[in-house]
Amino acid sequence: MKPKLLAMLFSIPFISLTSPGALAADSPDYAAILQSAYQKFKNDNRGKVADYIPALAAYSDKNYAIAIATVDGKLYTAGDTQKIFPLESLTKIFSLSIALNQHGADKVLNELGANSTGLPFNSGLAIELRPERPQNPLVNAGAISTVSFINAKNANDRWQQIIDNMNAYADAKLSINLDVYHSESVTNQHNQALSRLMMSYGRMYSNADEALDIYTKQCSVSATTEQLAKMGAVLANAGKSPFTGKQLLQQQYVPNVLSEMAIAGLYDGSGQWLYNVGVPAKSGVGGGMVAVVPGQYAIAVYSPPLDKAGNSVRAQEAISYVAHATKANLYDSH
Ligand code: DON
Repeated sequence: MKPKLLAMLFSIPFISLTSPGALAADSPDYAAILQSAYQKFKNDNRGKVADYIPALAAYSDKNYAIAIATVDGKLYTAGDTQKIFPLESLTKIFSLSIALNQHGADKVLNELGANSTGLPFNSGLAIELRPERPQNPLVNAGAISTVSFINAKNANDRWQQIIDNMNAYADAKLSINLDVYHSESVTNQHNQALSRLMMSYGRMYSNADEALDIYTKQCSVSATTEQLAKMGAVLANAGKSPFTGKQLLQQQYVPNVLSEMAIAGLYDGSGQWLYNVGVPAKSGVGGGMVAVVPGQYAIAVYSPPLDKAGNSVRAQEAISYVAHATKANLYDSH
């Protein structure tokens, strides 16, 4: 057979498999799925807005927004995706990312851990149960410890690294809600106790009071739902922002962040979430939640009313709906 003819024959199936039309037909209709998720849960007002940080109680239980950010840099939004809210525990995944870039996966595992506690996010008992071992960087104790584990010249440098990193993920200059920061600073006796307990077990890696203060400030960093989706998209896209092209987390550490999210992102709700939905996710008591589908997209939802574990009720419903509709469950072979 003539080489030209041979090449033609082999090129036919190759072309049809990779033509843009074929790929587009396979990709989910994100805009339609997101719209129906938004409508479906619009009137679901179960849950309670957090008030143990007094300033959070001021946020309306009506606030509701969904945003999807894909790895090819597309954004789909519904609801009030420009409303700004405190990220709270969502910030923990970004400080963990700094710790991984600086120290690598083994040190993070040894010093911060990857055990699900099965207990509430601010549990002191979880520390006592395994004082010789770290827990994980997403419960409060582990997150304060993570802040202390970031290499920094001084407090200002530590804070600057944290905020610069989150700004880079969000592709924006994020704001700090000083009301929320002060409100939490004067009511965080429980976190003070956790950080002291962690210190007594050698799990604080720089000054404990300074780390707690920076952690508290970190939790008050605020973003829109759209910005949160863009932050999550970095993790969906192998550590590189699809919006700026910047590599923010070394690719090799992305699975470490996502596995910590899988085991502890929703605290004592994590197991049930993974069982039902099968995608790593993280919540915050401000009502935000982000889930990451590696290689595809991140979805962020904002809705303040929370369940007993401190996770937004409507965010879990909406993300679960979108994950099913896009066949995102990582444990499902199709
Ligand atoms: O330390 C706290 O209690 C808060 N700043 C953050 C807790 C939180 O967001 C738990 N998440 N659902």
